[in-house]
Amino acid sequence: MTSVEQSSLQEYLAEQVLVVDRVLNEWVPAENVDPGIIHRAMRYSLFAGGKRIRPVLAIAAARAVSDAPDGVENAAATLELIHTYSLIHDDLPALDNDDLRRGRPTCHKVFGDAMAILAGDALLTLAFEVLSRLPGVGAERKIRLVEELSRASGTRGGMIGGQVNDIEGEGKHPTPLLLESIHRAKTGALLRASVRMGAIYAGARHQELAAISEYGEHIGLAFQIIDDVLDVEEPSESLGKTAGKDQAQRKVTFPAVYGLERSREMAEKERLAAHAALRIFDDRADRLRQIADFVVQRKA
Ligand code: IPE
Ligand code: IPE
Ligand code: MG
Ligand code: MG
Ligand code: MG
Repeated sequence: MTSVEQSSLQEYLAEQVLVVDRVLNEWVPAENVDPGIIHRAMRYSLFAGGKRIRPVLAIAAARAVSDAPDGVENAAATLELIHTYSLIHDDLPALDNDDLRRGRPTCHKVFGDAMAILAGDALLTLAFEVLSRLPGVGAERKIRLVEELSRASGTRGGMIGGQVNDIEGEGKHPTPLLLESIHRAKTGALLRASVRMGAIYAGARHQELAAISEYGEHIGLAFQIIDDVLDVEEPSESLGKTAGKDQAQRKVTFPAVYGLERSREMAEKERLAAHAALRIFDDRADRLRQIADFVVQRKA
C-alpha cells in the first residue's frame, strides 16, 4: 500500500504542518530569550497558521527521490522562515500596507514598523543559520542548499526582484510580459526552490532534479495566479488577509490582464504541465501530484 492510499491529502498536510512546526519551534528562540520583543514578533507571525506549502513541497519532493530522507524537515523549515519574513515585509505600510495576515492583525500593527522590519530580517538570517547547521548533512550539500535558497530569495529572478517589479508595476498598464515576470519571481522562484531543495537534500540525480524543477516552475506560476484570483473571489474572512487589495492598489495581476475565467484556465494548464513534468517518477511522487491539484483547487 502506498502512503497516498493510507491518508488523504488533507490528513497528510495536517501531519506535515505538525512536523514543520515542531522544527520551527526548536530553531526559533523562545519568547523569553533576550531581547524578548523580537522573538515574540517572529513567533507571532510564524505561528499564525500558514499553510506551510513550501516546506511540505520540500518534504514531498525529497520523498519522491528517496525513501527515507532523514531530517529533511530542518531544511524544509528554512523555506517557511524566508516566506514568513517576505510576508511581514510585504504587509508593511511602505509595501502593500496590509492590516490582516493569517487571520490576525499584521506584525507591524501589533509590534510597530521597526520591530516588524527587524523580525523579518531576523527570520531571513535564521534561515541561513539553520542551513549551516543542518544535522548530518555534508558541507557540499549544505552549500548547494544555501545557493538555492539565497538565489530564489534574491534580486535576479528571485523573490525580492519580483517584489520590486510588483511595487514598481502598481498603476502601470498590465502587460502579459510584465505580469509573468513579476509572478515567476516574487512567488514562483521560492516554490521552485522548495522542491529543488527537497530533491537536492535527498540526493537527486540530474534528470530527477530537472524534472522536479520543471514541476516547481509550473506550480509556482499556478500558485500566484490562484492567489490573484482568490483576492478577487474570496472574502477576507476565509483568506485571513484583506480581499480585493490588488484592484484597490492597481496591481499587475492575472485577473487584471486576462479576467477571472481565463486566469483559472491558465492555472489549470500549469497544473497539467506540473503533472506531465513528473512522468519519470513512480507513485512516490503522488504527494507532489496531489499538491499540484491542491494549488489550483484551494480556497485560501
Ligand atoms: C501568500 O502565500 C503570499 C504569496 C506568495 C502568494 P501563502 O498563500 O503560501 O500564505 P500562507 O503561508 O498560507 O499564509
Ligand atoms: C506577495 O504577493 C509575494 C511575496 C513575496 C510575499 P502578494 O502581495 O500578492 O501576497 P498577499 O496576497 O499579500 O499574500
Ligand atoms: Mg505584495
Ligand atoms: Mg500583499
Ligand atoms: Mg496576493
